[in-house]
Amino acid sequence: MTPVSIHLTVNGREHILASEPCRTLLSLLREDLGLTSVKEGCGQGDCGACVVILDGQAVNACLVFAAQAEGASILTVEGLAQDGALHPLQARFIERWAFQCGYCTPGMLMSCYALLQHNPDPDEEQIRDAIAGNLCRCTSYQGVVDAVQAAAADLRAGKPPAGAAP
Ligand code: FES
Ligand code: FES
Repeated sequence: MTPVSIHLTVNGREHILASEPCRTLLSLLREDLGLTSVKEGCGQGDCGACVVILDGQAVNACLVFAAQAEGASILTVEGLAQDGALHPLQARFIERWAFQCGYCTPGMLMSCYALLQHNPDPDEEQIRDAIAGNLCRCTSYQGVVDAVQAAAADLRAGKPPAGAAP
């Protein structure tokens, strides 16, 4: 199949990439841009390991064709930390032990990020709804709920993020 040229902005940087049109956005982000936070789990929209923010919406990158991202702005976990400081969600996930193996964590973080973009003070049910598509085989999800509520409070208070970015 003839490659197509795809223009997109990822974590604030513009890229022009040549890609087979039928490749997934997941493949493009991982293999062409080296953004390995975007995990492949099921590859069919069931696990949430590949969630990224595309034009402000949380999407499963395994279900988006690379060509559909033409002109889009995408955020992945690699773009969350700013000026060497972790995003409050990242800092609170660490503080509240909101993960164990960490495989689901990037997708979980991006789903939570999307939630806080439109709901700065979510209750537990709203958080659990937001992460309903993110499967975790390790934790009870309670640490995630606690971390999101703590991060939401940080953001509402305008607190600087805690912890240095790796
Ligand atoms: S890999 Fe995309 S939802 Fe599972
Ligand atoms: S922390 Fe292991 S799958 Fe979620």
